[in-house]
Amino acid sequence: MSAALHAGANAPRSDRPAVPAVFAAPGESVARIDLVLVGARGQVGSALRRQLDRRRHWLREHTGVDYTLLAAFDRRGFAHDLQGLQLESFEQDLQPRRDNDLELLLARLTRPGAAPAVFIDCTASDEVADWYPRLLSGGVGVVGANKRANARSLSHFHELQRLSRRHGAPYRYETTVGAAIPVLGPIRDVRLRGETIRSLQGVLSGSLSHILHRLHEGCLFSDAVAEASALGLTEPDPFEDLRAEDLARKLLVLGREAGFALELESVAIESLVDDANDASGTLRERLRAQDARWQARISEALGRGERLVMVAQVDADGGRVGIQSLPVASPFAQLKPGENLVLVHTDLQATTPLALGGKGAGAEITAAGVFSDIVAAANQLLRR
Ligand SMILES: NC(=O)c1ccc[n+]([C@@H]2O[C@H](COP(=O)([O-])OP(=O)(O)OC[C@H]3O[C@@H](n4cnc5c(N)ncnc54)[C@H](OP(=O)(O)O)[C@@H]3O)[C@@H](O)[C@H]2O)c1
Repeated sequence: MSAALHAGANAPRSDRPAVPAVFAAPGESVARIDLVLVGARGQVGSALRRQLDRRRHWLREHTGVDYTLLAAFDRRGFAHDLQGLQLESFEQDLQPRRDNDLELLLARLTRPGAAPAVFIDCTASDEVADWYPRLLSGGVGVVGANKRANARSLSHFHELQRLSRRHGAPYRYETTVGAAIPVLGPIRDVRLRGETIRSLQGVLSGSLSHILHRLHEGCLFSDAVAEASALGLTEPDPFEDLRAEDLARKLLVLGREAGFALELESVAIESLVDDANDASGTLRERLRAQDARWQARISEALGRGERLVMVAQVDADGGRVGIQSLPVASPFAQLKPGENLVLVHTDLQATTPLALGGKGAGAEITAAGVFSDIVAAANQLLRR
């Protein structure tokens, strides 16, 4: 299997068909792109496989792009076929991962004269994020739903942008904040027209919004967390969500895109649990220990005619992630569970902020956002 990764010549760049527009004219030629999907059996990866399969014809017709799924894998299995894996039956092609599978794949994707390729990261893995510099340096496009790479140091964030520009390799990660809601793209556009972003505030965590929403309905904290966990909204260890570190990572990506020089250590994070690092007792017992405090907090807020909302914000004073008590009529307090909203204040839009909102979680909608990024990356690569 692995030896085949070295075989098979790709068309030299000069032989590639004419580059199509984003929406192709009828009868326009079709260009082909190689895809590699990591996290192929996860929630987002599985939804993306279904969408790629279902929309192959649409993609050819409307964007002039066709694809070969060269490889798909996760930690447990690896499948590849130079002729293209069949999306609906790819699980039959999965083999246990071998030590050199990945190295051979990366070498193939980044070798001089390789066909244009997009590497799609549907994991939450630091190990996978480690491969981005090598991929971008080798001219491979990277599309990530994984926010790990952009949430490292600010210098690493800038380095990835620099590699992308220098090697003409698209780097797109719109779904890392707000799932398929266009948030990062509009923020980039605002900055590219010379407008300065003064501040951002957002409700960006599906799991924390759901839990807070249920608390206002009278649910106990421990029950609300157990419910969110059963719905698949939290990490396997819900304390990871409750410590709000994932939300802080989203704020880093959002804030950096908006031009703020943020580092994770400088973001003030208010955890939803006051003993987050105390791992004694069962999970349920640790959660129950929070019930009384939350009941009191919620009833005080409701008594003031307010609701508690988990807000991430950044401005000239830095980044903060924490609970705010807001009037029930405020836009953030009005959101339904699963909805995200980002308010962007700029020098030109100071009193009426730019509002970007919608459904902010869910595998199908997130996969649709990844799909958009793939199409944009493919078009950029085919124009190189
Ligand atoms: N679900 C959502 O609504 C949503 C919304 C926005 C963004 N996202 C982001 O999308 C990403 C995927 O989320 P998900 O909900 O689909 O997660 P998931 O269901 O847990 O799937 C994660 C996948 O990543 C694979 N994986 C983990 N580490 C890997 C490694 N080192 N090498 C190769 N594969 C690895 C896992 O494979 P194994 O099973 O073999 O470990 C699994 O297939 C995350 O970064 C998440 O934050 C998700």
